[in-house]
Amino acid sequence: MSSQNNSPLTTIASLSKLKDKSKKFTCLTAYESTMASIISKAGVDVILVGDSLGMVIQGHDSTLPVTMDQLIYHLECVVKGNKSSHIMADMPFMSYATDDLGFENATRLMQSGAHSIKIEGGEWICNMANTLAERGIPVCAHIGLTPQAINRIGGYFVQGRDTEKHDLMIAEAKALENAGAAMLLLECVPDQLAETITNELQIPVIGIGAGSKTDGQIMVIHDLLGISCLEKPPKFVKDFMSDANSIQEAIELYNTSVKSGTFPAKEHTFF
Ligand code: KIV
Repeated sequence: MSSQNNSPLTTIASLSKLKDKSKKFTCLTAYESTMASIISKAGVDVILVGDSLGMVIQGHDSTLPVTMDQLIYHLECVVKGNKSSHIMADMPFMSYATDDLGFENATRLMQSGAHSIKIEGGEWICNMANTLAERGIPVCAHIGLTPQAINRIGGYFVQGRDTEKHDLMIAEAKALENAGAAMLLLECVPDQLAETITNELQIPVIGIGAGSKTDGQIMVIHDLLGISCLEKPPKFVKDFMSDANSIQEAIELYNTSVKSGTFPAKEHTFF
């Protein structure tokens, strides 16, 4: 892996320290080398090679068609451009349908340069989070709106508004931490619920559409640059390019806005 600047590599331990000090951290998706290099140089802590590539790169209407080989191709491109960010790689749809499959595919991602892997799901992924963690693979568990389950969920809705789902999400978050997850990602969750989960967990919690109280924020790079493929971008998206003169400047603005607490604002938050 290339690490050509002098900044130390961001690690799970350094992200945990930021949480302990109540300091925010930033994450962005990237799918290729040049963008990874710009993102890393801008001081963004985590780069996610997300299966959102199925939508923003490949033009599909969901993340489901993305394969392991495609994810690895994009991961290898990102690894070459990265300077000092922590690289998280998504496990594509069905690549962890069984524990054996998940173990094999997570190993492939780590051997291709990922520093951690992300899987979507609640209780049912606890066993896998535990197996991978025990074997040295840090796992970020993704709960709330989980795009790989879009056909079951029925649409891109806020999750956890009713009491039953609210309580279930807190229980799932705690179970995943106890199972050995190193990080948690909350997508499309009301602000108050995200705050509760962030406060009750020791591990760093990353949010997208989960308000301003999570330890870290993540955004899809295309959304940040105002080139979303959707006609109407989701409420939690901010086009940072409209206040910047270059891509570098837009990413730096995102980085400083999250770290100073000005993004996400009320208008980007679900209550
Ligand atoms: O694939 C992705 O980009 C993601 C983020 C939206 C969190 O999972």
